[in-house]
Amino acid sequence: MKAIILAGGTGSRLYPLTQISSKQLQAVFDKPMIYYSLTVLMAAGIRDFCLISTPKDLPRFEHLLGDGKQWGVSIEYRPQPRPEGIAQAFLIAEDFVDGGDVVLMLGDNIFSGGDDFPRAMAAFRGGATIFAYHVKDPQRYGVVEFDGAGNAVSIEEKPAHPRSAYAVPGIYIYDHQAVEIARTIGPSPRGELEITDVNLEYLRRGALRVHRLSRGFAWLDAGTSTALQEASAYIEAIERRQGVKIGCPEEAALVRGFLTMAEFEALLVRMPACEYRDYLRGVAAEMGRLGHAR
Ligand code: G1P
Repeated sequence: MKAIILAGGTGSRLYPLTQISSKQLQAVFDKPMIYYSLTVLMAAGIRDFCLISTPKDLPRFEHLLGDGKQWGVSIEYRPQPRPEGIAQAFLIAEDFVDGGDVVLMLGDNIFSGGDDFPRAMAAFRGGATIFAYHVKDPQRYGVVEFDGAGNAVSIEEKPAHPRSAYAVPGIYIYDHQAVEIARTIGPSPRGELEITDVNLEYLRRGALRVHRLSRGFAWLDAGTSTALQEASAYIEAIERRQGVKIGCPEEAALVRGFLTMAEFEALLVRMPACEYRDYLRGVAAEMGRLGHAR
């Protein structure tokens, strides 16, 4: 399966930080935000990426991530000239999707824990699979309502009066219909092609599956300066406690076998002396000892 990562937007709620770099390049504890979404997808076995951002920010992402070869993956880049909605990603990346199944992920969504995503991707048999996560402030998100049998019955984008506490996180799995649907929906009152409208069309076609994420799963928001700080603190606490990093693409590449141990070690040689490199050295040593059982 391929993946589109959407890392656009003006990031106005992070001003003035976004004067120097885009929201998805801001630091979340010890790594750029984009590393977290990329790593979630790599850990699920995805190797083909298309990253979409603004024409201004795209070169910064290219500089950071390159063509992906260093991590055994491929990363292509496409501009989104204006912030015209998440669903526009399908129109921008239509040739990349090429009629196949695709995961769409927002570059500002940070997840930690569980194997829900790899499982959902492995179990995907067409239609659309989206996720639902219990939150305190559902009105800030797409909100999904379930009937007594646990089936999704409605989805609303940022409703003033949410019908449930289940928000839809920014990771979605679609089949080929997504491109055609994105072409038929019109812009919402906020002038965007809403991903919620794509999901509603799948629901109408009886082809939408909603997977509720478990309580132990963390979905962090980094949309405001306070949320960014809180996300950093959360990642730091988990990393310190466990001695494992969240959102480390090099590690995911090694664990998934995208890189051989020799390629991984060559990567470390090119890295400056830093805590991050020390950590990766530890990963390599541990994997060597455990015989790749990490
Ligand atoms: C977007 C989607 C919304 C989803 C959210 C997840 O919101 O429109 O349905 O719940 O991402 O992060 P936006 O980032 O446009 O406010």
